[in-house]
Amino acid sequence: MKTTANILLGDCKDVLKELSDNSVDLIFTSPPYADQRKNTYGGVSPDKYVQWFLPVSRELLRVLKPSGTFVLNIKEKVANGERSTYVMELIIEMRRQGWLWTEEFIWHKKNCYPGKWPNRFRDAWERLLQFNKQKTFAMYQDEVMVPMGDWAKGRLKKLSETDKIRDTSKVGSGFGKNISNWLDREKAYPTNVLHLATECSNKNHSAAFPEGLPEWFIRLFTKEGDTVLDPFMGSGTTNFVAQRMNRSSIGIEILPEYYEMVKKQIVPEKMILLKTTEEYETLGSNGHYAVR
Ligand SMILES: C[S@@+](CC[C@H](N)C(=O)[O-])C[C@H]1O[C@@H](n2cnc3c(N)ncnc32)[C@H](O)[C@@H]1O
Repeated sequence: MKTTANILLGDCKDVLKELSDNSVDLIFTSPPYADQRKNTYGGVSPDKYVQWFLPVSRELLRVLKPSGTFVLNIKEKVANGERSTYVMELIIEMRRQGWLWTEEFIWHKKNCYPGKWPNRFRDAWERLLQFNKQKTFAMYQDEVMVPMGDWAKGRLKKLSETDKIRDTSKVGSGFGKNISNWLDREKAYPTNVLHLATECSNKNHSAAFPEGLPEWFIRLFTKEGDTVLDPFMGSGTTNFVAQRMNRSSIGIEILPEYYEMVKKQIVPEKMILLKTTEEYETLGSNGHYAVR
């Protein structure tokens, strides 16, 4: 099977129009935050942010498959001593546009730099908003299971009576838990909080993701051969990680220097053998493949 990396230059609002309807399995992106990083790649003022983003999210809704997921990494800034509300306003407007706001993950930045502010503490987390087109979507939960760890040793040893039977949800959701089911298991499902350090190793972009961030969501929401889109590509972290994980990817970037940089480094086409550890790469026009 072949995976591709399609790197495109331009404003994603326009370039997205070139992509087919229902063609992408996962959109994973971090757009410029309002008014931040003016000196590097420009910002949008907080009061214009929602209007700026909606034409992009309309196109994203069109290109995403019904079974697909859109994960938006964003965090509102502080202006005049107050948190802006544009992220909340954006969620409401995107729901009006037809998106379902399925979940919110938190990225806890483990290595957040020290500092002191008169009216708040260090900002150590960002949002990852999950949007879908429909209530049922592709999700490979077993791919992101975590070791049970010490929790099992402590909590599971002291099971209460309700823990030993199915404890019906107190909010009437119909879901319940029977904690004793988890005894003797080595792995558990993770929470919606991801603990990852920001990465200083990627010096190519002032706001690059740590690779572990797209990797975790690509694992959760796609399988090998699927297509991942990052419409605000930057240094291409999403695309490089997708390629390493045998997914096709599309990246869109407005600044020529980032576009050129990614285009030069990424392999445009790669042959993969599903369900083996061997990887094959094209050797150019002679059509032969080499085992890596
Ligand atoms: C927060 S950065 C993304 C960084 C990326 N996640 C990485 O790991 O390098 C946002 C990127 O979006 C680009 N950008 C801003 N407006 C854009 C637009 N309208 N269309 C496409 N790219 C845009 C910026 O130049 C910037 O590189």
